[in-house]
Amino acid sequence: MKKTYVITGTTSGIGKTLLEAFAKDNIVFAGYRNEKYFNDLKSVSDNVIPFFIDMEKKESVAKAAAFIKSQTDKIDTIINVAGCVIAGLMETIDVDDIRKQFEVNTFSHLDLTQKLLPLLKDGKIINVSSMASFGIFPFVAPYCASKRALDILFNSLGIESGIKVVSVKPGVIATPLWGKSIDLNKKSISNCADHEKEMQYMVANARKNETNGLDVHKVRDLIVKIDGMENPKSSYTVGKDAFFANLVSKLPQDWLNKIIRYGIKAKVSSLK
Ligand SMILES: NC(=O)c1ccc[n+]([C@@H]2O[C@H](COP(=O)([O-])OP(=O)(O)OC[C@H]3O[C@@H](n4cnc5c(N)ncnc54)[C@H](OP(=O)(O)O)[C@@H]3O)[C@@H](O)[C@H]2O)c1
Repeated sequence: MKKTYVITGTTSGIGKTLLEAFAKDNIVFAGYRNEKYFNDLKSVSDNVIPFFIDMEKKESVAKAAAFIKSQTDKIDTIINVAGCVIAGLMETIDVDDIRKQFEVNTFSHLDLTQKLLPLLKDGKIINVSSMASFGIFPFVAPYCASKRALDILFNSLGIESGIKVVSVKPGVIATPLWGKSIDLNKKSISNCADHEKEMQYMVANARKNETNGLDVHKVRDLIVKIDGMENPKSSYTVGKDAFFANLVSKLPQDWLNKIIRYGIKAKVSSLK
């Protein structure tokens, strides 16, 4: 029997591969924020029902939820995927940029999920979090904090409601996210007095990650597997880097900070 999925962020990267996998045999409500993708989404399969959602705007989240409710009375799995990366120095970053980060990566996911909960009978919630949730990376603290908050809020939702909530925490995955992050953070990248080298390293690394990261299908395959499990764990990492980030995050904070400072110094001094 066909199942019904709601997936955000289906126009690119991880979300796109999930849409392609699930829409073969199931109904998928596929979130997009740019009209130019509407026909691409429709062409994946007749099972795809695209819905507009701008995760920065709560009115848009409400409209998206109302639209989905007008089309179905049952959802089997909600997969919260959409996301972006806000980087910058805590000394100078515009706090409104951090608000935006939380709106897109955290609050809108909870808001949409809450509105759809009455339809989620015996279903699952799968969140695409990140190894950033372990909170160990400077210069991208807004992103780390938004993912940590996402995990905390949804873990609590799972305990309180009894709904199965799963956090998937990928390491570096080869998707367009990295190039988009460079564009999105132009202001921070150019406003980084005393940290130009670090930013230069971050940008060069982001460019490399877009192609050298882990194959996006590894994330897709894990999520398809989790969706099929009766009793999945609450949290999964994807990739050796995510496994390692989890491990070192358990060190005492001062030890961890020393390791991170040393690591950044070594990387930056290797730059020409
Ligand atoms: N790539 C990695 O290394 C990595 C690692 C760990 C976790 N993740 C997480 O995986 C998730 C998917 O990322 P990805 O790597 O697949 O990146 P991606 O290719 O950039 O996909 C992100 C998706 O989210 C959508 N999106 C972004 N901002 C939005 C907004 N304001 N409203 C509605 N939709 C929005 C994008 O729409 P557009 O197509 O219009 O941009 C796109 O469909 C994100 O939550 C990310 O944090 C990624």
